[in-house]
Amino acid sequence: MTNSWLSASGGDLSAGYARHAGTLRGALRHALVARALRTHLPAGAQQVLDVGGGDGHQAVQLARIGHHVTLLDPDPAMLKQAMDRLAAEPEQVRSRVRLVEGTGEQAKDLVGGGYDLVLCHGVLMYVDTPATFVRDLVSAVRPGGMLSLLVKNRDALAMRPALEERWADTLAVLDTNSETGNLGVTSRAHTVAEVEAMLAAAGAFTTVWYGLRMFTDHFGDRPVGEDFNLILDAEWQAGRREPYRRIGRLLHFLAWTGRHDS
Ligand SMILES: C[S@@+](CC[C@H](N)C(=O)[O-])C[C@H]1O[C@@H](n2cnc3c(N)ncnc32)[C@H](O)[C@@H]1O
Repeated sequence: MTNSWLSASGGDLSAGYARHAGTLRGALRHALVARALRTHLPAGAQQVLDVGGGDGHQAVQLARIGHHVTLLDPDPAMLKQAMDRLAAEPEQVRSRVRLVEGTGEQAKDLVGGGYDLVLCHGVLMYVDTPATFVRDLVSAVRPGGMLSLLVKNRDALAMRPALEERWADTLAVLDTNSETGNLGVTSRAHTVAEVEAMLAAAGAFTTVWYGLRMFTDHFGDRPVGEDFNLILDAEWQAGRREPYRRIGRLLHFLAWTGRHDS
């Protein structure tokens, strides 16, 4: 499969992604990732590279609390949304975010390396050569720095169609590592073992991983409701525990280059 995001027929996926980000599922994904980052980030302002940072949701959150973020993304429509989001922020926040057009494969040439933290959320599923991509991500992290990687969970691909009672789709994904997601784009999923092996081969070692959306992935486009914080807590607590985290729709890995005592 070639990069399925960049070659998506119909072009602009940014509007669909923005709609998804406003649903309960989208909001939970962002909030759970942010909570894990807050839990593990060291004190003090960090230099952050967000590869495939898209519309800038995570970059702006981090800039608001004092971090400096370089957002690298090849999709002009996603970058335009990041620009619009930034425009609504105070100057202090705006000055801490830099937007760069380009792919993760071009990161070394376009934005260099030595970052305290590299983010790559919801991108690995679209790229041509995931293991090489992970190696490029890790090489942008300074020794002792952290990589935050969010991927689709291969072992749970059948959960969504099954809970939605789409039985033919359930059978179709049981033995594959790819599917067509809610944006209509083909995407790849990985097992925990596959991700840990790619990270270790690149020189990063996973200290923690979380499952996301064990309980809520079959809710379709349900909007955020008054019970959001309760749902968030239930997902957060289950996402750290066996066996629940293994059926999360998404897997969030935090990996360190070199020695790390968490
Ligand atoms: C599902 S969006 C995720 C955006 C953001 N990371 C988030 O979590 O909200 C996927 C993003 O990956 C970007 N992307 C696709 N191929 C890429 C590549 N080779 N290098 C960097 N980004 C890529 C797309 O342009 C898009 O913005």
